[in-house]
Amino acid sequence: MMPKRASFLSVGVSLAALAVIGAVIAAPVPASRNLCALDARPQAGDPRASAPWEAPPEWAEKKNPFPSDAKSLEAGKAVYTKQCTVCHGFKGKGDGPAAPGLSPSPGDLSDPIMWKQTDGTLYWKITEGRKPMPSYKNILTDEQRWHVVNYLRTFAPKPKPSP
Ligand code: HEC
Repeated sequence: MMPKRASFLSVGVSLAALAVIGAVIAAPVPASRNLCALDARPQAGDPRASAPWEAPPEWAEKKNPFPSDAKSLEAGKAVYTKQCTVCHGFKGKGDGPAAPGLSPSPGDLSDPIMWKQTDGTLYWKITEGRKPMPSYKNILTDEQRWHVVNYLRTFAPKPKPSP
């Protein structure tokens, strides 16, 4: 008789212990949800997500001194592959290995909408950067930045001029 009662008791005790452990494990869940919310990408309406990033007009008007020939594209590709793929991905889709942690996201350089921006604007953005994208003013030469602009253009199909 005695051993049976004892085992009933110990089952009861372990159930109680499980309940306590369960409560402890369950408790932090809402808190960690909140932390996730802090990490989330900017939502629509977030000023960081919607703040326009525009180049000063004198830069937007600058012409690319390098034609988009094989030599320029080769130089641009070398720079891009080394410096930019970690965030922008190999095809500019914004899917590099570091991209999921970035806010705002690196966007999609292969979207034809990129053609609405001039070479000068893209050059200026690469030169200046904007957090979390670094400035390439002191990392790349002037020429390398123009070559990489030519290379970026190969990601996005050029829209046909509207009739
Ligand atoms: C650390 C990650 C990171 C690296 C490395 C990086 N970028 Fe970016 N890039 C971003 C992010 C994030 C944005 C969006 C910034 C914003 O909108 O405020 C961006 C934006 C851009 C834009 C503007 C896109 C648009 O729609 O106007 C261009 C062009 C660009 N990057 C080119 C490059 C090039 C070229 C390189 C390499 C020389 C590079 N980036 C390296 C993260 C990065």
